[in-house]
Amino acid sequence: MSVREEFDEWATSGRDRGMEERHWHTAKHALARMPVEPGDTVLDLGCGSGYAGRALRDTKDAGRIYGLDGSPEMAHNAASYTDDPQVGYVVGDFGALPFADDSIDHVWSMEAFYYAADPHETLEEIARILRPGGTFYCAVNYYEENVHSHEWQDNIAVEMTRWDRDQYREAFRSADLSVAEQDNVPDREIAIPSEAEFPLEDWDTREAMVEHYREYGTLLTVGVAP
Ligand SMILES: C[S@@+](CC[C@H](N)C(=O)[O-])C[C@H]1O[C@@H](n2cnc3c(N)ncnc32)[C@H](O)[C@@H]1O
Repeated sequence: MSVREEFDEWATSGRDRGMEERHWHTAKHALARMPVEPGDTVLDLGCGSGYAGRALRDTKDAGRIYGLDGSPEMAHNAASYTDDPQVGYVVGDFGALPFADDSIDHVWSMEAFYYAADPHETLEEIARILRPGGTFYCAVNYYEENVHSHEWQDNIAVEMTRWDRDQYREAFRSADLSVAEQDNVPDREIAIPSEAEFPLEDWDTREAMVEHYREYGTLLTVGVAP
């Protein structure tokens, strides 16, 4: 199944807003750290409902915001949630970003990067379009150390890349993005599922499982363009 088929269905069934709600728990902390200056141009890769770019307009007075998504229905929904002329949504693929070299001040991506068919190629594309000193804030909840996320692939037809922390850093460096920081942003607001929905399986105690689930939260890796 293609990205378009998978995520168009999510968008038309209203899951774009559900994702926004869940991802906001940690996204808001990571967005607050972005060194966005008034007037800066920001690209949100795999924007879903587009909430992140709108938040950067509201909180940091970002200039032009682009949200790129492979699902036309996601982009359509995102556009319907704002009438801000400085915010635009485009349909595109992570493999070929429709932006000129050095044209973007900062790139943001939440829970989307690992869907890239070739994540190394996507990093090179990001490095190409970022202006010198521009940053890539890459936030993912699906990664090796977050064992709770491993089963997600069973429910999603698009192939996902599951890197660990080191692999993220190495891949960033290979694309000529220096790693300014890497951090886990804990998700203290997550609703812990009931025991029936989420059996203990490999955990000795439910408390240990819940704490792990919250602590791991979002893996944030920040790259800076040369
Ligand atoms: C799990 S959603 C996350 C959406 C949003 N960033 C959020 O935090 O709620 C992943 C999004 O990435 C988009 N996506 C996945 N693979 C893509 C690709 N190769 N090119 C463009 N968009 C892609 C999907 O269409 C989907 O809207």
